[in-house]
Amino acid sequence: MSLREDFLWGGAVAAHQLEGAYDVDGKGLSIMDVATAGDAQHHRLFTDGVLKGEIYPNHTGIDFYHRYKEDIRLFAEMGFKCFRTSIAWTRIYPTGEENEPNESGLQFYDNLFDTCLEYGIEPVITLSHFEMPFALVKKYGGWRDRKLIDLFVKFAVTCFKRYRYKVKYWMTFNEINNQANYNNIGSVYSNSGILYNSDECREQTMYQASHYELVASALAIDQGRKIDPDARFGCMIAMCPIYPATCSPEDVLMAHKAMQKRYYYADVHAWGEYPANILALWKRKQYEIDVTKEDLDVLKRGVVDYIGFSYYMSFAIAKKERNINYDYDEAHDLVSNPFVAMSDWGWQVDSIGLRYSLNWFTDRYRLPLFIVENGLGAYDQVEEDGSIHDSYRINYLRDHIQQMKLAVSEDGVDLMGYTPWGCIDLVSFSTGEMDKRYGFIYVDKKNDGTGTLQRLKKDSFYWYKKVIESNGEIL
Ligand code: BG6
Repeated sequence: MSLREDFLWGGAVAAHQLEGAYDVDGKGLSIMDVATAGDAQHHRLFTDGVLKGEIYPNHTGIDFYHRYKEDIRLFAEMGFKCFRTSIAWTRIYPTGEENEPNESGLQFYDNLFDTCLEYGIEPVITLSHFEMPFALVKKYGGWRDRKLIDLFVKFAVTCFKRYRYKVKYWMTFNEINNQANYNNIGSVYSNSGILYNSDECREQTMYQASHYELVASALAIDQGRKIDPDARFGCMIAMCPIYPATCSPEDVLMAHKAMQKRYYYADVHAWGEYPANILALWKRKQYEIDVTKEDLDVLKRGVVDYIGFSYYMSFAIAKKERNINYDYDEAHDLVSNPFVAMSDWGWQVDSIGLRYSLNWFTDRYRLPLFIVENGLGAYDQVEEDGSIHDSYRINYLRDHIQQMKLAVSEDGVDLMGYTPWGCIDLVSFSTGEMDKRYGFIYVDKKNDGTGTLQRLKKDSFYWYKKVIESNGEIL
């Protein structure tokens, strides 16, 4: 069995990492517009508004806002069947609280989606890719507040109605489960727009914010189905399978408990209810989470049609003596895996982990899957003639596609498509660098913001074109 005929080959990006034009045509300030530049060793910082003298890489991105036609043409040349991007909430509702959407913002995405469709490229759209209006962060503390549910659903419904005839594939929150890593983020915002106070119980706050997002996702999907019964609604999970460091029963149980805590989000999205292990954890820790009877009904109604997920790396974990309850703490309990390689940014490269993940999701949820991110962030060298020989990227992607195909042909996984991350070089989410490149298309921009923004085709561009042409047969 090979990949299905209508397999969605493509590429993935996010609005804030490539559009630029951060204050153009009525756009409001987004949380990612106040993120400064960092590097492999340093987190980006979030400032209180835009400050003079700071560098904000997302303000200009790669100027996709003005160059999308040229870029989509290049995607079409590679044979893309789909293109995953997100809608910047702040282009549609600049502060999140307006009663009427911003027409120029809506028009931009109309133009973008029309361009894709002209080339036969299906838009695959994430509503919130680590982004929200900065005004909501300031006023409500991000997703700490139940009020965010209605504001998000208003935004989602506006998009569903407007793009009903253009977008068939939606996802609600990008990598919603990454916030399970609440101890690792120092004094920066979480992807729920939360800045933790020094004296609060981060874990409890995280469960509360996540609950509001899960309800918002379900409500949006419930509404979306009424607006467009033909559309398909998915979630988006950051999948890093957590292996036991050894076969000691303690490590095995530790890894299992870690998986429960990092992936319960998918349980709620797919089953419409919380798993017993999370409810038991709340009880044991005496967390009082604001969950209403109505919320529970909504979760049931808004289950997803498919599971979108990113896959970059796997984790490994060992049980620590102090941890009598096997509580997962991503910031302190992970160990390095001697059986896999590491990228220049310390990400564990493990292609078999992708096949493992595809099997894990299928066994647990029995839903179609969509790999909506995968890739290698690496330094690229432009030769004098403008060529870029990125064999390391081709090798990474080839290995992962091979495992993906095995999951389909040998394990019976129902896979909708594959969209490698950063199909065109863009601003790194975690570091704000340009040097951490994922693209098939090189963009001439340096970390300090200088460069011509010229687009160049890397070797991987020609390679991926052949992969798509042969539906994954020629790797
Ligand atoms: C995923 C995010 O976590 O990883 C993307 O959805 C991000 O937004 C991608 O860019 C790669 O991470 P980074 O930090 O290398 O850009």
